[in-house]
Amino acid sequence: MNLLEPLTLGPAGHARAPSRVMFGPHETNLARRRAFSDRHVAYYRRRAVGGAGIVVTETASVHPSDWPYERAPLAAESANGWASVARACHAEGALVLASIGHAGGQGSSAYNQQPLLAPSRVPEVNTREVPKAMEAEDIDAVVAGFGAAARLAVSAGLDGIEVNGGQHSLVRQFLSGLTNQRRDGYGEDRLRFAREVLEGVRDAAAGAVVGLRLSCDELAPWAGITPDTALEILAGLHPYVDYVVVVRGSIYSVSATRPDGHTPPGFNLELSRRVREALPGRVVVVAQGSIVDVAMAQDALASGAADAMEMTRAQVADPELVRKVRAGAAATVRPCVLCNQTCQVRDPRNPVVSCIGEPSSGHETEDAPLGGATARPQRVLVVGAGPAGLEAARVAALRGHDVRVADRAPRPGGAVRAAAAGAGRERLARITEWLASECSRLGVELDLGRELGVGDIEAHDGPVLICAGSRDGRREYRVEPGADVRTARSVLEQPDALPGGPAVIWDPVGGPIGISAAELLAGRGADVALVTHDLIAGTQLARSGDLADASTRLQRAGVALHKRSRLVAVTPSAAVVEDVFTGEVREIEASVVIDAGHRLPEDTLWRAHPAPPRAGDAVAPRTMYEAVLEGRRAALALDAVGAPVLAVHGAAS
Ligand SMILES: Cc1cc2nc3c(=O)[nH]c(=O)nc-3n(C[C@H](O)[C@H](O)[C@H](O)COP(=O)(O)O)c2cc1C
Repeated sequence: MNLLEPLTLGPAGHARAPSRVMFGPHETNLARRRAFSDRHVAYYRRRAVGGAGIVVTETASVHPSDWPYERAPLAAESANGWASVARACHAEGALVLASIGHAGGQGSSAYNQQPLLAPSRVPEVNTREVPKAMEAEDIDAVVAGFGAAARLAVSAGLDGIEVNGGQHSLVRQFLSGLTNQRRDGYGEDRLRFAREVLEGVRDAAAGAVVGLRLSCDELAPWAGITPDTALEILAGLHPYVDYVVVVRGSIYSVSATRPDGHTPPGFNLELSRRVREALPGRVVVVAQGSIVDVAMAQDALASGAADAMEMTRAQVADPELVRKVRAGAAATVRPCVLCNQTCQVRDPRNPVVSCIGEPSSGHETEDAPLGGATARPQRVLVVGAGPAGLEAARVAALRGHDVRVADRAPRPGGAVRAAAAGAGRERLARITEWLASECSRLGVELDLGRELGVGDIEAHDGPVLICAGSRDGRREYRVEPGADVRTARSVLEQPDALPGGPAVIWDPVGGPIGISAAELLAGRGADVALVTHDLIAGTQLARSGDLADASTRLQRAGVALHKRSRLVAVTPSAAVVEDVFTGEVREIEASVVIDAGHRLPEDTLWRAHPAPPRAGDAVAPRTMYEAVLEGRRAALALDAVGAPVLAVHGAAS
């Protein structure tokens, strides 16, 4: 089996996917109210153009009792949107299936002001909300909702249905001893609800493809679904389905379904293999779980771990993944680095799905295409070979400009070199490596190890883009003579240069840098303490889903945590901290203090007259996402393409 081979699916084997790569169902926040939008159509179409064999649309709620997040599609409002997605993707050859589901006790009561529905009154682990145990009429209504949703999807022109029995799903809640403690027929036979749902869907969508996404390991063996019990469940349910997607995770392990780079890629492949061996050959098995490398996907297919590969985040990162592999250019696929920074949309900011390496993902209807030759090729000088500079250079070169990138560092990567030094974050470097290799392929001159001055900028005959990154921030604490204070960035880049003795990390940001530094040093046997003014270390990691795991790793590594504490002074032998609630001052022994605080823009060259356009940390130090986005915009602005480049001109503040 090969990724590029077609795959036939469905009761009559009539549905044909042009490749064995699935784009799985995921929350995008692209809906307008509860309906699929033009943004969805463009988003899915782009993956179909890129060669995805099967596009599974965002899970639509089958019943109004389910409204798990503000812009969660509702099946009853999805007919037009589904029809548009089907038309757009069918034109490119892809199959389109509707994921339908009900989040049950894992939903939210905030939007419809109704109690959560669940098999039993088990408080939800994450929201702590007690759901209403479903009564017979609730069950009947939801089962009927599944049937109605399936009928609507097929009549809208979709090729079939995928029933969600995965991480966030009522179907799984009924199947699991963790959440189903009923004593009626739905508790004595925990498969009954799923069977009724699948029967209803089969009837309503006669002749169409029916799939089941199933958590085959809830990672809670005391009562949850285990790989062994998953096989028993599937023995009862497989007659109703044409394919199964093998996923894992549950209420106690929300981040385990799509973990970040701390979990090795392909973590479900052996589980998938077991399921495939147990099921009749008629049922197609799809593997899932951080399958982001084409070679891994190919090997897993060839070795029989599955019949198809779900590569969701990989195609958020590179919508053209399959097309590139087909063209023999797998090496040019933009990597997914499993950072979860912008493809995880359930955060308080309610952002739309995107990607730090491909910021046009999710913004297909707004962003100008990168391609198209410039009408006026120019000699472009980019200062800085971090993500902003490399992306600016790549895009400018793609459009036919003659580009040189200069950086005082001997290697490209900028701040990403430090960020990628953290344990579990090594993959981050793949983005800047990819950018550098694309730059080389496009003929960009990389002029490394060269520090440019104002004179070089003024002497350059053509546009200059300042992507010079950041410099150290202000120290808002006293540093006594003889005290050793370093930046987290320098320590991550050169951990060997640290003196022996206890190290204290001051982390007023709560992002990945301070936590990574703590993990790195503790992993090397150092005595490490982390000081934060927050009540939880690494608060910002909640956005990428790594917060709970990071806390576990810090505790296991023996990092001493000093919470709600502010650094006020550093002496040669101690960090002096103050309790932010009580003002109590105490000393923590330290031979070195490592500052993981905010940084400032490196804007020395930008202050030269006339201030050239700038991008990324040189505007304001943020994340790789903004760096790539603004580097790209700055390059497009050379030809007056795309959104105006904001806040890049004008007097320095
Ligand atoms: C932003 C995002 C939201 C997701 N939401 C859902 C969801 O609502 N239902 C679901 O079954 N899977 C959801 N997933 C899981 C994906 O379908 C997929 O299984 C997951 O991303 C793992 O595949 P990958 O490692 O190839 O990305 C989501 C994934 C992402 C990245």
